[in-house]
Amino acid sequence: MTAPLLDIRDLRISFQARDGEWAEALCGIDLSLEPGKVLGIVGESGSGKSIAMMAFLQLLPRGTRVEGSAKFRGEELIGMAPARIRKIRGKAIGCIFQDPLSAFNPVKTLGQQVVEAIRLHDRAISKREALKEAERLFELVAIPQPARRVRQYPHEFSGGMRQRAMIAMALANKPDLLI
Ligand SMILES: Nc1ncnc2c1ncn2[C@@H]1O[C@H](COP(=O)(O)OP(=O)(O)OP(=O)(O)O)[C@@H](O)[C@H]1O
Ligand SMILES: [Mg+2]
Repeated sequence: MTAPLLDIRDLRISFQARDGEWAEALCGIDLSLEPGKVLGIVGESGSGKSIAMMAFLQLLPRGTRVEGSAKFRGEELIGMAPARIRKIRGKAIGCIFQDPLSAFNPVKTLGQQVVEAIRLHDRAISKREALKEAERLFELVAIPQPARRVRQYPHEFSGGMRQRAMIAMALANKPDLLI
């Protein structure tokens, strides 16, 4: 048996209300994902699917209480030092966010943002090469006229195209785990 790529045990998330009371939004989930496998999480709207993923990527607001364990290739992500998680997030773990409009920077072109995502993890690649790679990724996710589209801003894309640009960005660093 291979070691799981992702192993989540009793993950709990609580938010603090304005009155200081803690509200448990995720009451303990377990899941295990083997390399090369696909796992779907099903649940009603607001049941905590997104926050479960955001929690171990350390993308929830400061002050959120996250308990339990989430191991990526055996390495604990909960409580991991910010410098270390920044090396993993967007590189070994890619994330396609649910709402691309809030995930993208509105004042930068989509090409610039993919270039930044690539160069954040690989300083050896030039801006020009990274932009070529962004065009290739846009083509891969079936965005027409990629050379023109990389120069556009998020608001100039249709909703579906924005989602595909989000997928292109998540794939940019060839992640081992894609969320
Ligand atoms: N920063 C926050 N502060 C307080 N509550 C939050 C915060 N972020 C999310 N929540 C709450 O946590 C719960 C789970 O939200 P989450 O986004 O994980 O749902 P979901 O299962 O992904 O839903 P959907 O299917 O609609 O995407 C919701 O009740 C939401 O309002
Ligand atoms: Mg969600």
